[in-house]
This record gives sequence, structure tokens and C-alpha cells, in this order.
Amino acid sequence: MSEEKYDLVVIGSGPGGYVASIVAAQKGMKVASIEKRTTLGGTCLNVGCIPSKAMLHASEQYENAVKLNGNKEWGITCKDVKLDLTKLLKKKSGIVDELTKGIDFLYKKNKVTKYIGTAKFITANSIEITGDNTRNLIHAENIIIATGSEATHLPNINIDEKKIVTSTGALELKEVPKKMIVIGAGIIGLEMGTVWRRLGSDVEVIEYLPRILPGMDNEVAEKFMKILEKQGLNFKLGQAVESSKIVENKVVLSIRNVTKENTYEIDADVVLVAVGRKPNTHGLGLKDLNIDIDKHGFIKTNNHFQTSINNIYAIGDVIKGPMLAHKAEEDGVAAVEIINGEAGHVDYNLVPGIIYTAPEVAVIGKTEEELKEEGIEFNKGVFPLSANSRAKAISHTDGMVKILSDKSTDKILGAHMIGHEAGTVIHELSIAMGFGASSEDVARICHGHPTVNEAVKEAALATYSKAIHF
Ligand code: NAI
Repeated sequence: MSEEKYDLVVIGSGPGGYVASIVAAQKGMKVASIEKRTTLGGTCLNVGCIPSKAMLHASEQYENAVKLNGNKEWGITCKDVKLDLTKLLKKKSGIVDELTKGIDFLYKKNKVTKYIGTAKFITANSIEITGDNTRNLIHAENIIIATGSEATHLPNINIDEKKIVTSTGALELKEVPKKMIVIGAGIIGLEMGTVWRRLGSDVEVIEYLPRILPGMDNEVAEKFMKILEKQGLNFKLGQAVESSKIVENKVVLSIRNVTKENTYEIDADVVLVAVGRKPNTHGLGLKDLNIDIDKHGFIKTNNHFQTSINNIYAIGDVIKGPMLAHKAEEDGVAAVEIINGEAGHVDYNLVPGIIYTAPEVAVIGKTEEELKEEGIEFNKGVFPLSANSRAKAISHTDGMVKILSDKSTDKILGAHMIGHEAGTVIHELSIAMGFGASSEDVARICHGHPTVNEAVKEAALATYSKAIHF
């Protein structure tokens, strides 16, 4: 049994935890990273961002090839397009494998010690790690909790990860379901629903609220829903899923129409439950240490990521803020900087949100609804991608860029876009907003032609003057 002492112990090796471990080691700290999975990288690399993006990529290629079959418009024909799902899943797993091993390499390079096992606090400075056949007790001056989140379950719906799946099971289906029902029109539901629709499933999305993507800008959510419907995704809004049963190899869901209050049943071959995620803190022994947790299960922290115990910090999905990998990474860096006596800070208003469908959706800053609620007067500039020459040249004209700027100062307050590679394009606005730029600042920057970024320039121009090409 090891009784090693470290400057910093990080529990969890997702994007928050592994980044914190590496940065701390780079700053000269003696660091240990504890992970209960056998591979590093957490949800994001193992069963989240990375495998889902691999499947979104593969399914998009497949759908494009299928669409070319018999399509004379571009003069390209693609016949006998076949899907080998086993190979697709193997390729996806190979990508995950390479990336998780890449973190092992970075740990070795930076001299981060890895412990595989489940961590439990014994005191505020010591942690017990229980592995398959191992038990270690290690000590630390400072500890960061970065244990992430897990899928929220619904009462009366029994997840078996085969017929009723979370996002984890949805990455491993052995055959394309004829009919798939997705419960929840959030990011996971729309991304994974899109993957399986492209691969051949008839996909229906059941959402409790009267809209998709709660919290996102209304106009963007409405336009995006129309685009997804055009692509073949079916939506049932204002419907609460109440229970499930298996009848003759089908999943039968009992659904209540929220406004009409009537209940009915629909069936599917596979049901994906994507109704949100909850912080993962059980088994850590937080109660015994009296670490404060809010009513939703999030660990309470001050502005320095400190929990109610000074030398114990928490970052990423277990604390407040958007549950996103890149937010967790920024939290990790800032927490390490603070532990190291430097200034660390993350502006949650400037964390971009991206949906990796085609077109992509990318948002940053305030929505129109938030600005109205906060009583902030704003100008709005919108530019449709149908008027962008690059979008036209590549047949990706679905979408728009919308920029919201302060009425009196012209400072950009929010940017919302749907479009080809919007998740990449949005970063010009992230940088602009990070430097407190105005719409005019962005509009006066020379943008390359032809690029989708020109739609950003035009939307910026439209906030205080007039777009040129629309
Ligand atoms: P979500 O919170 O984004 O959406 C869940 C949806 O389910 C909501 O629209 C909610 O109204 C609905 N819902 C809840 N109970 C329901 C019921 N009984 N019947 C029908 N609908 C119901 O959660 P989601 O999509 O599971 O994502 C979880 C987290 O993971 C989010 O924070 C998301 O941002 C993050 N994520 C981010 C990705 C990205 O950045 N591209 C990809 C995947 C996940």
C-alpha cells in the first residue's frame, strides 16, 4: 500500500481533471490523478464528445454518399453505397483508444502519477483509492474534485443500455433500429438522433417543453427545428414520457400530452433517454467531511473554486455553469493557477455552446430573451447564409448569423449562428467578445472571401448600419 504525499491530487481524469493535472505538473507540483475507469479522458473522450463526433462525421459521409445516388445535380454518381456498422463502431472505438492513450503519454511526459481506482476522502488531506485488487492511501496538500456528471434517469423507465439507452448505449447499438424514439430535445438528443436518422432509423424526438433546446436563443431554436424537420427528424413537443414496458421486443412508452392531459402509447425498437445530466459525487465521502452541496447535487464553491473546505477545490460538471468539456478545462486551469498563487478566472458568459449536426449551431453570450429579461437595450443584426457566396458554392445555405450588441455602446453581447462549421466560425466572435469588441470592430475587419465568416461581418454590419449583400 502506497502512502505517498503529493502537492495536488485530482479526482477524475475528464477534460477538467486531466488538464488540471498536466497544468499543475507543468508548474512544478507533484501531482496524482485518480480515475475509476481503466482509461483516462472521462465521459468526453470515452463515451461523449469524441465518439459522438466520430459517429456524426461517419453518418454525415454516409448520408451524403446515399444522397448522391441518382442525384444528377452535381454530375457525380455514387452507386451501391453500403453501411458496415460493425466497422464504423470499430473505427470510432479506435479513435477513442488513440486519444485516451494520448493522455497517458502526456501524463508520463509531465510526470503525473496515475492511480486507477475509486477515490474516497478519509480526511481533508488523505484519500483512499480502491482498485480491483489494490488499496492505496495517499496524502495531499490540495485536492481538486473533477468527477464530472452522469445521465439523468427518468422514473419508471428502466435503462438497460440495449433497448432503452443513455448516450453511452446510443454509441454502441449493434444494428440500426428501424424506429428510434429520443426522449429530450437537448443537445445529446439532437446529435445522436441525427446520427441514427442518417444511418437509416425513423427517429421521433419527444420533448416535454413546447420548444427544443431550452435556454438557447428562441429564434435560433425555432429555425434549427425547421431545418431538422426538413432533414427527416420528427418532433412531438409538449409531451411527457411517463413509463416504459417491453412488449414483444419493442419498447412501448406511455406519454402524456401536457396541454390536453390525455395519455397514449407509442412504440420503438430503441429508446434514447437524453433528459440532462447530474453531478457525479456519490461515494466520495463528501458528507462525512461536511462539504456543502446544493439542492441539485452540485458542489458549492466560491469564486476561487474552493469548496467549504479551503484546500479542497471542485471544477467542471460537479459545480455550477454550463456542463461542457471546454468549460471544465478552463475551470481546471484557473483552479490550478489559484492554488499556485496566481490569478485564475473563467467568464461563463464567454463559453461557446456548439451542436455538431449539419448545419452546426454555435452560440455565445446572451440570448435575445436574456437581454430583454435583464432590461438591456440592444441592436440586432441578422444575415442569412442563403446570401453568403461560400455557403451557396458548397450547397450549405441553411442557417444564419445573428449578433446582438448594446444599443448605446455597440459592444457585442451575444452571437448565435446556424451554419456550415458554425462551431469553428463562432470563435472569431469569442475572441472579439473576449476583448470587449463592438459590432463595428468586427465589421471593419477584412474577412477572407469567399468564407462563411463573411456572414459574421455582414451580421455585425447589420447591427448598426446595413448588410451589403442582403
Ligand atoms: P439537456 O438538458 O440539454 O436537454 C434535455 C431535454 O430533455 C430538455 O429539453 C428537457 O426539457 C427534456 N426533458 C426532460 N424530461 C423530459 C421528459 N420526461 N419527457 C420529455 N422530455 C424531457 O440534456 P442533454 O441533451 O441530455 O445533455 C446533457 C448535457 O450534456 C448538457 O449540459 C449538454 O450541454 C451537454 N452536452 C454537450 C454537447 C456538446 O457540447 N456538443 C454534446 C452532448 C452533451
